[in-house]
Amino acid sequence: MTRYAHITGWGAAVPEKILTNDDLAQIVETSDEWIRSRTGIRERRIAAPEESTATLASEAALKALEVASISPSQVDLIIVASSSPEYLFPATACLVQDHIGADKAGAFDLSAACTGFIYALNMAASQIRTGAIDTAVVIGAETLSRLVNWEDRNTCILFGDGAGAFVLQACEEPGGVMSAVMRSDGSGAKLLMLPAGGSRYPATTETVRKGMHYIQMSGREVFRFATRVMAQATREVVEKAGLTLEDVNLIVPHQANQRIIDAAARGLKLPADRFMVNLERYGNTSTASIPIAAVEAVEKGRLRPGDHVVFVGFGGGLTWGALLAQWSGPLAERPARRVPEIPRLHRARGLMRRARRFVEGLIWGRYPDEK
Ligand code: UT7
Repeated sequence: MTRYAHITGWGAAVPEKILTNDDLAQIVETSDEWIRSRTGIRERRIAAPEESTATLASEAALKALEVASISPSQVDLIIVASSSPEYLFPATACLVQDHIGADKAGAFDLSAACTGFIYALNMAASQIRTGAIDTAVVIGAETLSRLVNWEDRNTCILFGDGAGAFVLQACEEPGGVMSAVMRSDGSGAKLLMLPAGGSRYPATTETVRKGMHYIQMSGREVFRFATRVMAQATREVVEKAGLTLEDVNLIVPHQANQRIIDAAARGLKLPADRFMVNLERYGNTSTASIPIAAVEAVEKGRLRPGDHVVFVGFGGGLTWGALLAQWSGPLAERPARRVPEIPRLHRARGLMRRARRFVEGLIWGRYPDEK
């Protein structure tokens, strides 16, 4: 029986504190007019001291589980994609696993910068399709405000904090994740990076003095790269799914810059209203931007069950990618479609094992592992 990976729950969590462009103009030499015309961003959210990547991720995950109507104990795998994880290790996903009480889940972090959520969705969907797991929670979560240099107007105006999560579940009904494209070009690694704090440049007073523990970016080069790959990855993922652009109801792009999204729309010859955009209120929340925008699209009725949706993004690495899914909805609303696949698989494997031991017993006179 073919297994499909359906997106059955979604949730977002953003800090309450809003930092407007006018607030930023008090900190660095910039203006609301410059930021809006060059990026489309009006404001972003900033985490409170007691909030962190893990707390925002956990909040988003719990909301997504609630939408899917499943308990944390039913989760087999948690993947957190983040550019601002809590620590180098342990994984933020392990902290989330503990916070939400997912006592039967494996957990790991995935590092693919802003493309991370797409990579993570694809990983989880593959695990579900192979039968290795039934249920996954995929999260994009960030507190980038802790990693930007608040004296660098090239970067500090762009980023914001927040988290978004999807629940993925096995289902025998066709749909869910249909195709994905994952790419990277490490020759562009230095265009967007956080140099210090890893094993290449461990934190020292020198790295701190040089500001190497802050995000560094060559904005123009990243901009050029992004406008090149967004339309290309979208076309590729649509073709891979055996669909055409006309079949796609909504594109949820990485929310980095309105001009990059406009360029993608022009490249694809699609109207602007085919794209979900909310970057004016959250800025660039890296791995979290796509799920946060997707949750809003659902809430506004722009993404409905049966719709074909493309998630497309780019970021440090360099990385880029796209994923096409047929939007589902909570499986709980369609109980007949659930697949208790893994127990059945275990039962079949158990029978096979017993049959083999029986035959081996006939040949050797006893079970080979019997002492
Ligand atoms: O998730 C991926 C993350 N990265 C991105 O998405 C970044 C992609 N790149 C961009 O979005 C754009 O390159 C930026 C928004 C970062 C910059 O826009 P731009 O149109 O490429 O501006 P620019 O870097 O070419 O700078 C133009 C001018 C420069 O002044 P001069 O040299 O022309 O006198 C900058 O110094 O604007 C100046 N500038 C600013 N002025 C006011 C740069 N940042 C600011 C600022 N306020 N915040």
